[in-house]
Amino acid sequence: MSETQKPTWLDRHSKIERNATLLMVFSFLVVTIGGIVEIAPLFWLENTIEEVEGVRPYSPLELAGRDIYVREGCYVCHSQMIRPMRDENERYGHYSLAAESMYDHPFQWGSKRTGPDLARVGGRYSDDWHVAHLSNPQSLVPESVMPKYDYLTRTRFEPETLTALMKTHRFVGVPYTDEMIENAVADANVQVNPDGDYDGLLERYPGAQVRSFDGQPGISEMDALVAYLQMLGTLVDFSTFQPDASR
Ligand code: HEC
Repeated sequence: MSETQKPTWLDRHSKIERNATLLMVFSFLVVTIGGIVEIAPLFWLENTIEEVEGVRPYSPLELAGRDIYVREGCYVCHSQMIRPMRDENERYGHYSLAAESMYDHPFQWGSKRTGPDLARVGGRYSDDWHVAHLSNPQSLVPESVMPKYDYLTRTRFEPETLTALMKTHRFVGVPYTDEMIENAVADANVQVNPDGDYDGLLERYPGAQVRSFDGQPGISEMDALVAYLQMLGTLVDFSTFQPDASR
């Protein structure tokens, strides 16, 4: 193109580029329109999380264990989100799906890994291992910096608090039914009692594990916490799971 050629409409761009105010006004316009196009559809979508078979709300005992996990600050050292990278998948298993934490309020993804990721720790160790490890981590891993939580075995769990806890979770969107809330205390009691009638529990929470988690009679906070740890990452069957390709 020669210097003397008539300016085309594209060359008017230089006007904007040489005028800081004009450039800012147009940049603002572009970013605003782009932002609205990206964000606005989310307000009309019912759900942005792909539903996955097997994912269900926590049973009352598991929910109580999760509450203890949050209370004790386990998330300060442990993440619960396996990233889709080869080293993580080889160490921890299938990468985490959004649906797996859809009933977590607040979510426990975490940002610090002083200890390993716990998203799929369920079933990896025995209950005895967890109780011994939580009571005194250094007895199993001498170099561990994890604190001792031995008092959880001695702290009786108060199932009476469950009704309020479940109502709160329902308030923020977990689909607990009236029936689930009415049966909360009974369901928690029966989940640690393999001799009890736990058919209702399994109907409401398919796949819930029923046994005494700390090996002692009654429900301790240790029972609740270990019940929670043992179900982490076990709800989705990854031998049959197919990611939804249409998304
Ligand atoms: C100060 C940091 C810290 C805190 C707080 C902490 N942990 Fe740990 N945790 C670790 C470290 C480090 C390890 C690895 C060494 C070991 O096994 O003790 C670990 C290991 C574990 C493991 C074994 C994981 C595996 O795959 O081997 C579990 C389960 C666990 N922690 C649960 C908990 C729970 C539940 C809590 C809260 C009650 C908690 N941790 C609080 C640091 C911490």
